[in-house]
Parts: sequence; C-alpha cells; structure tokens
Amino acid sequence: MHTVKAIYPGTFDPLTNGHLDLIARGAKIVDELVVAILRNSDKGTPLFSVAERLEMISEAVAPMENVSVTTFDGLLVDFARQQGAKAVLRGIRAISDYEYEFQMAMMNRKLDPELETLFMMPAEKYTYVSSRLIKGVFRLGADVSALVPPLVVERLKRKTAAGG
Ligand code: PNS
Repeated sequence: MHTVKAIYPGTFDPLTNGHLDLIARGAKIVDELVVAILRNSDKGTPLFSVAERLEMISEAVAPMENVSVTTFDGLLVDFARQQGAKAVLRGIRAISDYEYEFQMAMMNRKLDPELETLFMMPAEKYTYVSSRLIKGVFRLGADVSALVPPLVVERLKRKTAAGG
C-alpha cells in the first residue's frame, strides 16, 4: 500500500492555535503526521523546555489518530529519512514567511532531492499568530486564550507564577 508520512518540524515554543490548525489540515491529507520539535534550536533560550513542549503538543494532538510527536536533532533531512517520511509540512502565514521558507525548502531539496516540502496556509484568523508574539504579549499581561490551546495558557500562567 502507498502511504504518505510527513514531518511537521518546528520550535513550538509554545504551540499556538495556528500550529494546531496546520496539524489538523496536514493530518487530513497525509496518512501519518509526525510533529517534530527541534532540540538544538539556535533561537536563544526557549521559554519552555523540550520536555514541556513535548508534553503540551502530545496532549493537544491526542484526539488526532494519525498524529504523533517526537523530538529531533541535527539535519531535518536525516531525521526525515530515518522516519521514512516523504515530505515536510510547513505553514506559510504571510508573504514575509515566504523567503525563509523558500530558502529552507531549497536547501532541504539540495540535501535530499527525494524529500518534498508541502506548504499549507493556516486559517485566516491565525495569520498573525506566532510563538514569539504570544510570549511577548502574554508577558505584558495580554489574554492569549483565543490564540493558544487552554493547556498552553495554563502552562504560561504557571511559568509566570514561578517567575520563569
Ligand atoms: O519553528 P521554526 O523555528 O521556524 O522551525 C525551524 C526548523 C526546525 C524547521 C529548522 O530550523 C530546521 O529544520 N532545523 C534543523 C536543521 C536543518 O536541517 N537545517 C537545514 C534546513 S535549512
């Protein structure tokens, strides 16, 4: 049988409703979707540890039967090959995402011509949502409950209470 497995890689610090929307869309068109959290991100100190992000995403995707969550290190193409995945799923919110995504997709194609990158757009209502903005506005007291899953709101509150 011909089945398609795809990897949805990212930092997910933290998971947003935009990510979840994309996961749900991706899971409808591929047979198996693996959400993969990058362990050695060069984005600076994350707010949530990899273990915390793994827990949050696992809980959020629990109802989706063909979605699993894991972590990876090193090159995405190597991880995809190990997993037997044919495609990488990425979200594009606005034109501003395009250049970065295009460069990554082309680099990944250079590194592994067999691996395809699939781009999907999240729901319009999430086009401005990013993990970075969520952290920024939450820190300043904003209500982000419409933009991230409830379990992420809880974790954000706990972090703040713990002084993190
Ligand atoms: O959520 P992000 O930070 O936009 O995700 C970026 C990610 C994890 C997809 C990217 O940094 C990545 O794939 N890193 C692994 C290292 C790698 O393979 N780099 C080559 C791609 S250009």
